[in-house]
Amino acid sequence: MDSSKSLIDLRSVNRIYEMGGESVYALNDLTLSIDSGSYVAIMGTSGSGKSTLMNIVGCLDRPTSGTYSLDGVDILSCSDDQLAEVRNAKIGFVFQQFNLLASMTAMENVMLPMVYAGIPKAERFSRASQVLEQVGLGTRLQHRPNQLSGGQQQRVSIARALANKPSILLADEPTGALDSHTAEETMNLFNELVGRGITVILVTHDQDTADHARRIVRMRDGQIVDDSDSSSSVV
Ligand SMILES: Nc1ncnc2c1ncn2[C@@H]1O[C@H](COP(=O)(O)OP(=O)(O)OP(=O)(O)O)[C@@H](O)[C@H]1O
Ligand SMILES: [Mg+2]
Repeated sequence: MDSSKSLIDLRSVNRIYEMGGESVYALNDLTLSIDSGSYVAIMGTSGSGKSTLMNIVGCLDRPTSGTYSLDGVDILSCSDDQLAEVRNAKIGFVFQQFNLLASMTAMENVMLPMVYAGIPKAERFSRASQVLEQVGLGTRLQHRPNQLSGGQQQRVSIARALANKPSILLADEPTGALDSHTAEETMNLFNELVGRGITVILVTHDQDTADHARRIVRMRDGQIVDDSDSSSSVV
């Protein structure tokens, strides 16, 4: 594999937090390549650097040192505005607690990121109903979060993440607030998205959840300690 052609290419990345005169290496000389169309689970104990890694991959944060190339763009040389542009164009985020706005319907929650992206109203409307249909919520467009089950709320948040047609979906503990059956459904949905060519990277503490992914990356103390790819080992 030529990692220079990877969608995500992190090399010798450090993310250092200075705390009361001490340096905390949240990421410590981490190198990771992820190809387009991958389905990756990140595992590891609390504090091992998983969220820090997701934030950097998602261009919400920058490495202290090292290099990060995303789809051929050198992220460390981008201005904050350029970084926001890359993020809006390429990345969708799904959160453990869904982060939906309680006063808005499913449609309105999904349309909101498109407002920020400057997409005209008619297109916002058609795209939102389309992505909600895709996640199986075509009959729940006008429901507010408190009128939806936890799994349905999570699917609204996934539809919202898909609204701007990202090539990468990042999910930090997306099934943490769901029962095992609903978690399974969420993972099956991610599988479908991967089938449509979206690269999915998720953080999980749950081995059953991780087993849905094709590649499992394990972290400890800001480093990758294991990286197994079932799609290449099974012939
Ligand atoms: N803003 C910050 N300032 C200082 N230290 C931080 C900050 N964010 C994270 N850290 C430290 O960096 C390390 C990695 O944190 P991170 O949130 O990436 O862990 P995690 O693997 O996501 O853990 P969890 O499973 O509990 O969510 C931890 O030691 C944490 O205390
Ligand atoms: Mg975390």
